[in-house]
Amino acid sequence: MGFATNAIHVGQEPDPATGAIVAPIYQTSTYVNEELGKNKGYDYARTSHPNRKALERTVAKLEGGHSAYVFTSGMAGIDAVFRLLRPGDHVVLSEAVYGGVFRLSTQLLVHFGLEFSFVDTSMVEAVRMSLRPNTKMLYLETPANPTMSVTDIAAMCKVAGERNITVAVDNTFLSPYLQRPIELGAHIVVHSMTKYLNGHSDATGGAVVLTRPEDAEKIYFIQRSAGSGLAPMDCFLVSRGIKTLAVRMLQHNANGITVARHLDAHPKVRKVYYPGLPSHPQHEVARRQQKGPGAMLSFDLGSVDAARRFLNHLQLCSLAESLGGVETLVSLPALMTHASMPPEVRERVGITEGLVRLSVGIEDMEDIIADLDQALLHV
Ligand SMILES: Cc1ncc(COP(=O)(O)O)c(C=O)c1O
Repeated sequence: MGFATNAIHVGQEPDPATGAIVAPIYQTSTYVNEELGKNKGYDYARTSHPNRKALERTVAKLEGGHSAYVFTSGMAGIDAVFRLLRPGDHVVLSEAVYGGVFRLSTQLLVHFGLEFSFVDTSMVEAVRMSLRPNTKMLYLETPANPTMSVTDIAAMCKVAGERNITVAVDNTFLSPYLQRPIELGAHIVVHSMTKYLNGHSDATGGAVVLTRPEDAEKIYFIQRSAGSGLAPMDCFLVSRGIKTLAVRMLQHNANGITVARHLDAHPKVRKVYYPGLPSHPQHEVARRQQKGPGAMLSFDLGSVDAARRFLNHLQLCSLAESLGGVETLVSLPALMTHASMPPEVRERVGITEGLVRLSVGIEDMEDIIADLDQALLHV
């Protein structure tokens, strides 16, 4: 079956009890035993429940994985992935990762004996040089948040394969519709489902997709031990959102390309960071490994004051954290999503104070551009 068909049908069979085309929300914490030691496959909602099972089957199918587990947020899923490691293990991460991943690793997990190195993963040699005898995981975010730097996933998997290193890829920015890391050799894919998978900015969620049964077993153990699995209502909402993933991503992608080109030609904009522009340093890699450049882009307005004037004059686009919803969202990474990164790290990876991040929605393209243009008049 094709991607859109799978997104609508896998895990979403009609309810066998009633024939309801959409399975009900199993809003219950516990399940009755028919007799001691005999139940219908569920015992307690922390461990699992039908809405979670359904969503996990859909996400595993769309990413081409062996299995998937869904969490209360992207961060809960990413935390579970790092817990696959042991004290003394070393992880190499993309240097421009989401600020929350930077905070989790440098302020929390280091205290449990894990070592982290942040490297420009768009440079294969830089990654090779950063490997240590105890390196156990390569954690890639591509395109990276918010610089849109692109990592060659297949090249990274080759380097990692030489040393038996696990490759995990955060596929939040593109969704499996535009990029499928497992087909490029990745062992693990993570998502903030809060973003494109749900797509409607009305739930948080995370997903971890596995290719190896032994990893799947451990991730499920972590999930049910820590109690970080996604609740029934939220699973239901994300399952509903995923059904339109293909059509949404097509429109996001088309709007993203148009907006990026428009901003690139705008005299008030110093620089646009978007893998779909030929000027992007990894444009060719992006063309090879992505089905489209997507709808995430950043652009530099030169100073925090210029950015503030722009943001304060937007009328249609919303100034908000998060991304991947049907509505266009705009943020200032240095003061919002990446505020937890020390200024010198932000500077090194290119997150300037005038860098604005745009998650292009699926409103009419002309309306998005008109709003950006009127706000740019104030810069
Ligand atoms: C690329 C990326 N990964 C992970 C996360 C974390 O996801 P969540 O906010 O659902 O915990 C985010 C959040 O913005 C993100 O942008």
